[in-house]
Amino acid sequence: MLNKRVKRGAGEPPDLLSPIYGSRSLEGVIPKYELPEGELPARVAYQLVHDELNLDGNPALNMATFVSTWMEPEADDLMRETLGKNYVDADEYPQSAELQNRCVNILAHLYHAPGDGTSVGCATVGSSEAIHLAGLAMKWRWKKRTEAAGRSAGVPNIVMGQNVQVCWEKFARYFEVEPRYVPLSEDRFVLGVDEAISMVDENTIGVVGILGSTYTGEYEPIKELNDALSAFNERSGLAVPVHVDAASGGFVAPFVAPDLEWDFRLPLVCSINVSGHKYGLVYPGVGWVIWRDEAYLPEELIFHVNYLGGDHPTFNLNFSRGAGQIIAQYYNFLRLGRDGYTGIMSALSATARRLADAIDATGHFDLFARGTDLPVVCFALRGDRPYSVFDLSDALRERGWIVPAYTLAPNAEHISVMRVVVREGVSQDMADLLVEDIKRALERLEAQSVRPTTARRHRTKTRGVC
Ligand SMILES: Cc1ncc(COP(=O)(O)O)c(C=O)c1O
Repeated sequence: MLNKRVKRGAGEPPDLLSPIYGSRSLEGVIPKYELPEGELPARVAYQLVHDELNLDGNPALNMATFVSTWMEPEADDLMRETLGKNYVDADEYPQSAELQNRCVNILAHLYHAPGDGTSVGCATVGSSEAIHLAGLAMKWRWKKRTEAAGRSAGVPNIVMGQNVQVCWEKFARYFEVEPRYVPLSEDRFVLGVDEAISMVDENTIGVVGILGSTYTGEYEPIKELNDALSAFNERSGLAVPVHVDAASGGFVAPFVAPDLEWDFRLPLVCSINVSGHKYGLVYPGVGWVIWRDEAYLPEELIFHVNYLGGDHPTFNLNFSRGAGQIIAQYYNFLRLGRDGYTGIMSALSATARRLADAIDATGHFDLFARGTDLPVVCFALRGDRPYSVFDLSDALRERGWIVPAYTLAPNAEHISVMRVVVREGVSQDMADLLVEDIKRALERLEAQSVRPTTARRHRTKTRGVC
């Protein structure tokens, strides 16, 4: 989030914390937006911050986020023990670096990287950073391909569905790549393969397939994309690759749909990103990017850091970061194994399907996702009503539930939906309670005949949903 300096008008009182309660050290006032002159006792400072944060939503009732809100106490312990470790200091913390290496290998294996190649990868802060790195690698490879073919390079472009998450828009703008968005339609909320191929040309750095659209949880047809692009490459003599944005699905599909071909089993898939902090079940702050082979990661992008000791190849946008989330990811791999992840992802999928059935059974909604791909349920109010999903979202908030309402991506943006992400911690019991609260809220809205607020909320930038 980008924050602005808070300015006060002439004569307006300054913003102050005025915490006059229960402690002598809190008799005075403390500026909010300037560094206070004096110190506070640690306990008092803690209490002030802690109390203010009570106004945040309750993570356990946050049905909006894909990101983990809970880990086992043993993982909490490991993270607490490693809070002071900087992951980039590989010489000082060689075992933390080794755990990252093991995670990359585990993921490359899980995603069927060819055994005869040398796949490479790294930890990132999340899928967004992973996508920036993968996009950069595709852009550099395109530049080299173009030079090798003796063509003069035009403006590079990337082809992707209009339903991409905002990080793809950012990548295109920050790294000066023309985004070519494949339009959605009334009844297709993911990439259309033929439409995508028709946008590819000699300046296309790659085509993106999403394993689990942020909007509806649907998997894009990645195998069909691979096959159609293969045929295109053969006809045109080009070598346009596929990148898979598996931010959420990368930790779901391998366990509940192991036969679905979306990963390095498909020859054109050159790189995959996944969020460790989503269905990888780690707290916010970790993602991964894996390349099929080191040949897909141009050497020029790798920086060799050596000033704190031995030579360490790095490819990251930032330098320092905490090692805790990477260590927690390794803990999960060790603790859960394939069976553990399969058990959790199967249970979440079952909960999502049951929730979808219950929401359907109310007769008030049209369902756009029923938990068949990602464990996500997405639904719109049926028919014309004097209230909208935004009102329903507000009404549920009064009970503590955070269920986002938003419009679908361009071309389907006249459809306003709500989405429930079933992630670890959302039990069947909680899902049942949510449905009861939805019914109660609807009864109240019907009785009140609230005026629609849709127009106001439609201005919300929906690619920002995460
Ligand atoms: C499909 C997809 N890609 C990328 C992202 C960005 O992921 P992160 O929040 O890990 O940066 C998201 C976030 O929800 C997503 O759903």
